[in-house]
Amino acid sequence: MEIYFQLAYLIGAILFILGLRGLSDPKTARRGNILAAIGMGIAVIASLFYPIDNPNNNYMWIVGSILIGSVIGWISAARVQMTAMPQLVSIFNGLGGGSAMMLALIEFLKIKSTFSANGLLGVIILFTLLVGSISFSGSILAYLKLDGRVKDKHVVLPQHQIINIVLMVGTFAMLIYTFFNPTSLNIGLSLALSLIYGWSFVAPIGGADMPVVISLLNSITGISAATAGFLYDNQIMILGGILVGAAGTILTVLMCDAMNRSLLNVIIGGFTATGGGAATDDSGKTVTSVNPMDAAILLNYAEKVMMVPGYGMAVAQAQKQAKEIDEFLTKQGIEVIYGIHPVAGRMPGHMNVLLAEVDISYDKLLDLDDSNSNISDTDVVLVVGANDVVNPSAEDDKSSSLYGMPVIKVWDARQTIVFKRSMNPGYAGVQNPLFFKEKTKMLFGDAADSLKKIMEELKSLN
Ligand code: TAP
Repeated sequence: MEIYFQLAYLIGAILFILGLRGLSDPKTARRGNILAAIGMGIAVIASLFYPIDNPNNNYMWIVGSILIGSVIGWISAARVQMTAMPQLVSIFNGLGGGSAMMLALIEFLKIKSTFSANGLLGVIILFTLLVGSISFSGSILAYLKLDGRVKDKHVVLPQHQIINIVLMVGTFAMLIYTFFNPTSLNIGLSLALSLIYGWSFVAPIGGADMPVVISLLNSITGISAATAGFLYDNQIMILGGILVGAAGTILTVLMCDAMNRSLLNVIIGGFTATGGGAATDDSGKTVTSVNPMDAAILLNYAEKVMMVPGYGMAVAQAQKQAKEIDEFLTKQGIEVIYGIHPVAGRMPGHMNVLLAEVDISYDKLLDLDDSNSNISDTDVVLVVGANDVVNPSAEDDKSSSLYGMPVIKVWDARQTIVFKRSMNPGYAGVQNPLFFKEKTKMLFGDAADSLKKIMEELKSLN
């Protein structure tokens, strides 16, 4: 019989890897997701039938929980708004960590009387408890911050980083003490300290930095799943956990690189807490604003147009209007392309997903390098709700917190129109000298509204 279970796990593992591979390209991402889900289904079903000593015959509980969990998961994933996706990911992530935490607790109680004598097994249980709890409470706080239910200022204490170091040392000390004195009280205290540390670790991190932290917590959850897999000698759990841990770590590093920030800088929370470093003093400079009619005229006489979407496009949900303009201009023989910055928006792939929602062809989406090599012969760039990712200070202002971050050099195009509602800065909190450049025009208002009006003007011109 054993061979069939191992075969099922092997198929599950192959599907996980194919799924991950599929996720590396927007065209295959949907299929990749389905493959990974099938792999997980096979792994869960095989584990359910794995012959174990099950005196309580608790299949009813297991199947009931799976059904309830599946319905809740399905409904929340189907209903979630794209802008709320990071919240959903953090909740799912936290539940993964919470499961590992519960498994560790159960295993502890099972072998409590012989715990210290179990050596490595005991260490694995306590480690799983630690990382599972950090991931659980950290992800819950990340969710609450992202959803605006908890403000950064409400959870940050004076000298918070010092408190975190003390908490971390205290938690480790308690876990070591529990290893040698495995009582219910000690494991309870270890659990409480691990949960408090997870919460406190996330507390000083700026709400908008949460995508990086969620990705980090995701990799921690992967590690906790992998160590829980060691508890049961379950290969698919170990492999799945390692894949999640590795993917989360790679994503964390890529996001930090794309923002030109170190992970330490994100964790310490200095960036958003200080309001983003030096703001360029542009007092006295004026901006040129245009109305939808002026913008429509510029577009009507263009040969090549690039749209650069950002967080504001997601807020305005302007993708549908962008697509309408794209179709209209394309019919007039005007080339329309999209410049996609890797950290435009608030989560990895945010802009790709947004544009995919309205079926904009992937062939039109250019990555950062391709966007920049296309800029100089672009007649009009429409910056739709993007700000930091098109900020020239990243190139030429050493005092800016954005300095060194790769950006889309929209100022090299013949004309640039920036869609935003006010002169407020973007996520980094720094002023954008792009707005004051000679070739830049500002179109103030909600992006969806402005694009809709431009569309009406375009129709009246043709
Ligand atoms: P931001 O710099 O955040 O700028 C968004 C702009 O959209 C703002 O200028 C805002 O101006 C405008 N806006 C908001 N609502 C709007 C609406 N309804 N209509 C029109 N404009 C609207 O966005 P970005 O350029 O996409 O940069 C992303 C930032 O997030 C980067 O700093 C990046 O490092 C950071 N970040 C990204 C990620 C990932 S993985 N994507 C993760 C963590 C952090 P108004 O308020 O004046 O309208």
